[in-house]
Amino acid sequence: MSTRSYTWRGFSATIEVPDSVGRLIRRTSRLGGGTAASGRLIFADPLPQLLIQSRNFEDALQYFRAWFSPVHSGSTARGGKQLGEGPVIGGSDMDEAVDAFPWYHSIELPGGVVTPGIFDHRPLVPHYGLPADLSTQRALDVATFDGFWAFELERRGAEVVAVDIDRLSSLDLPPQLRSAIVADGLDRESGQGFSLAHRALNSKVQRVVSSVYDLDPAALGTFDLVHVADLLLHLERPLDALRHIRSVTRGTALIADVIDLHLKRSDNQLVQYLGGWWSAMWWIPSLDALAQMVLDAGFSRVRLHTVYNLAGVHEHDGLWRAVLIADA
Ligand SMILES: C[S@@+](CC[C@H](N)C(=O)[O-])C[C@H]1O[C@@H](n2cnc3c(N)ncnc32)[C@H](O)[C@@H]1O
Repeated sequence: MSTRSYTWRGFSATIEVPDSVGRLIRRTSRLGGGTAASGRLIFADPLPQLLIQSRNFEDALQYFRAWFSPVHSGSTARGGKQLGEGPVIGGSDMDEAVDAFPWYHSIELPGGVVTPGIFDHRPLVPHYGLPADLSTQRALDVATFDGFWAFELERRGAEVVAVDIDRLSSLDLPPQLRSAIVADGLDRESGQGFSLAHRALNSKVQRVVSSVYDLDPAALGTFDLVHVADLLLHLERPLDALRHIRSVTRGTALIADVIDLHLKRSDNQLVQYLGGWWSAMWWIPSLDALAQMVLDAGFSRVRLHTVYNLAGVHEHDGLWRAVLIADA
């Protein structure tokens, strides 16, 4: 037997109830109401309201169409220059080549040319937590895109490997959106910008086509420094990706990704779920949830280096990002 006490308008009463009834009362009041079907089974009553959003398929596709529209490329006429392997380029050839396709990164190339990236990370570099001297270090840049961070690691002396997927349709996308991208002729190969900047900078960075999910120490070896930025939000399986990143980290990983600073700090497990529709964004975690995922993926220690907000050149408001430094 257990006892239950009730107070009402100054009167109180204590009653004895069998233990099973006491447990049922406790569980029912935790749920905020319910209908008991038996001692161990309770149904929420009333049912909670479903708050779901219908996905706007056209908007999702429009995002990728806009990425290839002229607003994202340079101001001069777009050339049709072939950008396969070739000698280091310069002068007006360079301007024409740079304008031939959209850029993600603003990269300073010889001759005063800056690629017209939709993100300019240059002011962030001094605050980002990269060691000044990386000579004798092996570094990996995961999800390199045009290679801004890979070239920065190389500039600091590291021997650098950079990985990225082969084409747009290899992104983690809802299958309906992936099919529409292919049908729309938007399924471009990746790496054009990287290859041009690589030649212009006479870089030795080795670009490997690989998904983060395929990172494997048996294939690429391990690295003193692994850099990965703005990738986890685009992945259906961020924890799986972090485990693969951990598998090739022998020193430190610098992990920068989008966070939602407004999610409640008292609950370190909160994550916004977006479903991969608009801009292939799947999740925005709280700061604590992101750090927790890094730890759960097998890193021994994680600390926060900085939190910054960077708007793209065509955006009014940027997203917040955390830079985490994790030890193997
Ligand atoms: C938002 S960009 C970030 C570029 C760069 N890391 C930065 O922070 O400036 C996302 C990059 O992730 C790459 N990516 C997406 N899915 C990937 C995957 N499964 N494996 C490796 N890279 C991936 C994209 O191709 C793209 O280059």
